[in-house]
Amino acid sequence: MQLSENTILITGATSGIGNAFALEFLKNNNTVIICGRREDRINTLKNEYPNIITKVCDIANAKQREDLVRWAIENYPNLNILINNAGVQYAADLHKPIDLEKLTNEVDTNFIAPIQLATLFTAHLKDKKNAAIINISSGLAFVPLAFMPVYCATKAAIHSFTMSLRYQLKDTGIKVFEIAPPAVDTELGHDRREDKSQSHGGLPISDFITEAMQAIKDDLLEAPIATAKGLRAKGEEMFPILNK
Ligand SMILES: NC(=O)c1ccc[n+]([C@@H]2O[C@H](COP(=O)([O-])OP(=O)(O)OC[C@H]3O[C@@H](n4cnc5c(N)ncnc54)[C@H](OP(=O)(O)O)[C@@H]3O)[C@@H](O)[C@H]2O)c1
Repeated sequence: MQLSENTILITGATSGIGNAFALEFLKNNNTVIICGRREDRINTLKNEYPNIITKVCDIANAKQREDLVRWAIENYPNLNILINNAGVQYAADLHKPIDLEKLTNEVDTNFIAPIQLATLFTAHLKDKKNAAIINISSGLAFVPLAFMPVYCATKAAIHSFTMSLRYQLKDTGIKVFEIAPPAVDTELGHDRREDKSQSHGGLPISDFITEAMQAIKDDLLEAPIATAKGLRAKGEEMFPILNK
């Protein structure tokens, strides 16, 4: 893939991986459109990077997703890359009735939204040069960490969906990527930490983004990054090790 002169919509770019993709693609002379729910973060990014195009949007909300697509196609008809990145991660104790609000939000954000966004954009992307849909899954798509059961299930599901999407679109010009990050040092799951600013460890974001950008450049359509490669290769064999 050519990594410059694209028009790219990235969901969930107010922090972490989405934010790192946005800044990297901006540096590489692309038009970058980002969305997220936190208006203060969006405004700070807009002040710092005046070229970035921003939209406050909750992709867990179907109407806001549909409005986002309509707005993006109308205002940025050259849009040729969608990065389905936004995600949330909750722990769940399955001895107790699950928190339905969290369950719905996690499934809507991590699974339903990327599917609806991808399919709302396919007709538009078919005519574009260097077109791509890039889904961000996880190493945990291949083997679950049992304390976050729904998160892992949504990532396994997005892995499966991405394979089918790639297959169905194989005769179009749209490349369908899956980037599966390992644990990366971002804000993901920070609401579980006592000190919200505390790192959960994981790969530094700069290392992640270097490898992920190279994978996209090299057309590695399924790209587990760093230690996620081992999870992809060994799959459920890793379950007892990961969960001990
Ligand atoms: N970090 C890891 O260890 C890791 C590992 C594997 C996979 N991943 C995946 O990487 C992706 C990015 O996560 P991250 O690690 O960068 O976490 P993060 O720092 O928490 O970023 C998540 C992003 O998603 C956005 N978001 C969440 N819900 C949204 C919604 N309903 N509507 C719009 N935006 C929403 C957040 O923005 P707002 O809060 O402003 O809405 C934020 O910009 C996720 O899909 C995650 O599952 C991460």
